[in-house]
Amino acid sequence: MPLFRLHGFWLTQQRAESVKLVHAQFKPRRDDVFLVTYPKSGTTWLKALVFTVLNRSVHPVSDAGHPLLSHNPHGLVPFLEYPDRTMYPVMELEELPSPRLLSTHVPPVLLPSGISTLGCRVVYLCREPKVVLVSTWHYMNKRGRECWSGGGGGAWHYMNKVYRDCFTEFDRAFELFCEGVSLYGPIWDHYLGYWKQSVAEPNRVLFLKYDEMMADTGNHVKRLAEFFGDPFTVEEESSGIVQDIVKLCSFENLKKMPVNCSGVTNPIDGLAIENSVFFRTGKVRDWENHMTEETAKKLDRIIEEKLGGCGLTF
Ligand code: A3P
Repeated sequence: MPLFRLHGFWLTQQRAESVKLVHAQFKPRRDDVFLVTYPKSGTTWLKALVFTVLNRSVHPVSDAGHPLLSHNPHGLVPFLEYPDRTMYPVMELEELPSPRLLSTHVPPVLLPSGISTLGCRVVYLCREPKVVLVSTWHYMNKRGRECWSGGGGGAWHYMNKVYRDCFTEFDRAFELFCEGVSLYGPIWDHYLGYWKQSVAEPNRVLFLKYDEMMADTGNHVKRLAEFFGDPFTVEEESSGIVQDIVKLCSFENLKKMPVNCSGVTNPIDGLAIENSVFFRTGKVRDWENHMTEETAKKLDRIIEEKLGGCGLTF
């Protein structure tokens, strides 16, 4: 896949154009909330959790009509940058009522500056880099396979060709990743940028880790509610709402829902995506199935060196 460097980060041409459009047209509001991730770090899960926590009074978790039962989380929390801006103009975001819940994969340097100056809250979720690589590799190859069997025309056809051409042997993907070449990469600069913001402004930027969230999701659900200034009341806690949110948004639960088994999300890159691709294994150590200890250590060393003792470890 051809990638271009914008302010030190690798983007496809379409995403670079989309980011420029966002800068030109998007008007942040003080109460906007941004969910930020490096791709394949648990975006879908974070969207489900935060949407459910923030909307718990409008959409009670036990409601038979809860939006997560009929929508993929990506259908509930729109991306800020979207490659096909002719189908999804930035202006559509203007029509959303406040407070808006939005998501993005862009690093801090590519976020519209108003987001930090207005004090908009950001939740950043990161994941162990080796697992991110494995998850990305599976995702891209799956989309590539879909392209070979697909049809279509226009932008759809163009992106099909791009994805079709991005079949990569794992070893090659590993080398590129180690060089920092991956969509929105280098991953270490992405992590570092938001880590530093969270250290400087902990009340504005909440930095979370996928593995820790897996180990104690309930505690993270409470942290999210507190971060948004709307902690669970004693009554809510005793009603078991935290456990209900954890269960509703769990990998096992979302994966088996009909909308996520057979549904299709809006086209991304002009190519419709089956919702099922967002739910693969949801494991924390899946890298063990794809690389030797020696290979793993090589990437560990690079990440350690690049993070340079900032305090963020995996
Ligand atoms: P794997 O490929 O390792 O299974 P993203 O949402 O950023 O695209 O990340 C996708 C990764 O998150 C996939 O990882 C996917 O299985 C995992 N995932 C999706 N929903 C999840 C959930 N509810 N809980 C935990 N992990 C989830």
